[in-house]
Amino acid sequence: MRIAVLRERRPGERRVALLPEQLPRLLQAGLDVSVEPEAGAEVGVPDEAYRAAGAYVGDDVLEGADIVLSVQPINLATARALGEDTVTISFLPTVQEMPLVRRFRDRRITAFSMDLVPRTSRAQTMDALSSMAMISGYRAAIVAAERLPRFFPLFMTAAGTVRPATVLVLGAGVAGLQAIATARRLGAVVEAYDVRKSSAEEVASLGAKFVEIDLPPLEGEGGYAREMTEERSVRQRELLMPYVANADVLITTAAVPGRPAPLLVTPEMIGRMRPGSVVVDLVADVGGNVAGSVPGQELSVNGVLIWGGLNVPSQMPVPASQLYGQNVANLLLLMVRNGQLHLDFDDEVLAGCCVTHAGDVKHRLTQDLLGEVG
Ligand SMILES: NC(=O)c1ccc[n+]([C@@H]2O[C@H](COP(=O)([O-])OP(=O)(O)OC[C@H]3O[C@@H](n4cnc5c(N)ncnc54)[C@H](O)[C@@H]3O)[C@@H](O)[C@H]2O)c1
Repeated sequence: MRIAVLRERRPGERRVALLPEQLPRLLQAGLDVSVEPEAGAEVGVPDEAYRAAGAYVGDDVLEGADIVLSVQPINLATARALGEDTVTISFLPTVQEMPLVRRFRDRRITAFSMDLVPRTSRAQTMDALSSMAMISGYRAAIVAAERLPRFFPLFMTAAGTVRPATVLVLGAGVAGLQAIATARRLGAVVEAYDVRKSSAEEVASLGAKFVEIDLPPLEGEGGYAREMTEERSVRQRELLMPYVANADVLITTAAVPGRPAPLLVTPEMIGRMRPGSVVVDLVADVGGNVAGSVPGQELSVNGVLIWGGLNVPSQMPVPASQLYGQNVANLLLLMVRNGQLHLDFDDEVLAGCCVTHAGDVKHRLTQDLLGEVG
């Protein structure tokens, strides 16, 4: 069975779906691996390293490929070049990728989406969303520390004491917790808020202070948050206002599955921050938590720097490729028995992340959306 690893084509994407270090497990499972030339260029991995690990490197990787691996969804032209029953594995946010989903369905391609891997303990080793969120959270703290015109830690010097920075993190899921841990390691005083009650303990365990405000928690299904009502949004913003005003750094990571990111920070709140403060909106590219944040841009609003995230994991392509490659290899090995493709849809992990198979759209939400728009 042939696995093809593609060179990423979307602008700004620097990750690669598989690194040479992940090849031995796949070869041992009886798979052949082909890699497109220059696939690892952005992570400093030359074609020679893939060859040395046992891969074929060539422009014809799609010919006879059984499984195609990429980070971003493949493009429509590539989908046209694939044979029936070929399997693709990549991130595939179906809401944004409806034309591709239709092409997969019509060409009887089997598509698995790394966005849809169930968040269960068994699927943890395949959970690329968590891997990428961890990287984004780290990067958020580093971006803020680099741009803030002051220290993160307390300094006591002969010339006097310099106070530490105060970092406020809104949304303490996987990314938020890593932002907290990184800011703490750099010595900042960290406060955090999340609508999920269970996050309070996790925040405290990292040495940060959980911000208690007088609002009920919003625990949803599967350990995720629920969407806020407009009334609660307004109240939450009012109650968080003094914490935002007091922060030197504000990092926002709040998301609700299947919905645009909630607006947590208004222009008025930004206006209350001190000049020189830094705001990092990690979810700027999925709706944004901060009014006025622009994905991929840094703006100054009355002296406050607002940094909008855009494909943040790709800004740290080496660990992102390493972790993504592990996640993908683990999922791939679930589909292989004795060197042959064996798709067991009784397996909740495979069933959960399958978007199209044998001419049908398998994913419920995508089916509904296709009914609406297609
Ligand atoms: N394998 C697993 O079991 C697994 C894997 C990953 C995550 N999880 C759990 O899923 C949960 C969240 O994961 P995630 O980081 O992917 O979430 P996410 O990216 O969907 O959201 C980030 C955070 O934003 C918070 N949030 C949403 N609306 C908010 C608001 N209005 N104000 C403040 N915060 C808000 C959420 O509660 C969440 O903690 C956690 O409980 C995590 O432990 C479980």
